[in-house]
Amino acid sequence: MRKPIIAGNWKMHKTAGEGALLVRELAALTKTVTDVEMVVCPPFTALAAAAGAVAGTAIGLGAQNMHWEEKGAFTGEIAPGMLKDIGCTHVIIGHSERRQYFAETDKTVNQKTKAAFKAGLTPIVCVGETLAEREANATEKVVGIQVEGGLEGLTAEQAANLVIAYEPVWAIGTGRTASAGDANAVCAFIRRTVGAMFGQTVADSLRIQYGGSVKPDNIAELMAQPDIDGALVGGASLEADSFSKLVMFSGKA
Ligand code: PGA
Repeated sequence: MRKPIIAGNWKMHKTAGEGALLVRELAALTKTVTDVEMVVCPPFTALAAAAGAVAGTAIGLGAQNMHWEEKGAFTGEIAPGMLKDIGCTHVIIGHSERRQYFAETDKTVNQKTKAAFKAGLTPIVCVGETLAEREANATEKVVGIQVEGGLEGLTAEQAANLVIAYEPVWAIGTGRTASAGDANAVCAFIRRTVGAMFGQTVADSLRIQYGGSVKPDNIAELMAQPDIDGALVGGASLEADSFSKLVMFSGKA
């Protein structure tokens, strides 16, 4: 019922030319994929080139961040409408690296999420606990606050169309993946939290991704979990070969 969604977060990698090449290679390898939504999220400077390369393919285009205002004196920022104009369909909001290094909070995540919907973009809202929080048994508390704060004031329709990425901070870029069962347990908790806020129908349509060292050899087990509807992938999205295996939920070529 929920269409799986696999998104590649390129972070601060790839020039415009490298990005366009990667998308073209990926498009060629995934021509037959129809049952999985695919999204690439290049850095801002590669979006235009990637937009040209995704045209006519089934691959969506996402940005990695944006400001919540429509325009104004915000030096260095990018507005939602600018992303839409360049061909974006999605935008990552509140990635843990943004929370950690750029002082993003649940409040700015909430402002950005609302602004994304207003501009016609699908937000991929990131939540997740640190290692210290997990070890203190505070995962549900932390993630619950992030979900409630980030989604506050959305309409039920918006919440149903949202994508949430559960990314335990300790699993990002570390090679340490949460076990499929542990990842699913937190995704199920997120779904219950959204259900309590917006009702069961919304919770049932919400797509929840797992992120954190997702690789071709662990994707199948993660995707087999009932509450995991996709993946947000960093390192393994930087090469067409590994990303195409991920969208096929397969370690095999
Ligand atoms: P990773 O990054 O796949 O390299 O762990 C995931 C993410 O930060 O979205």
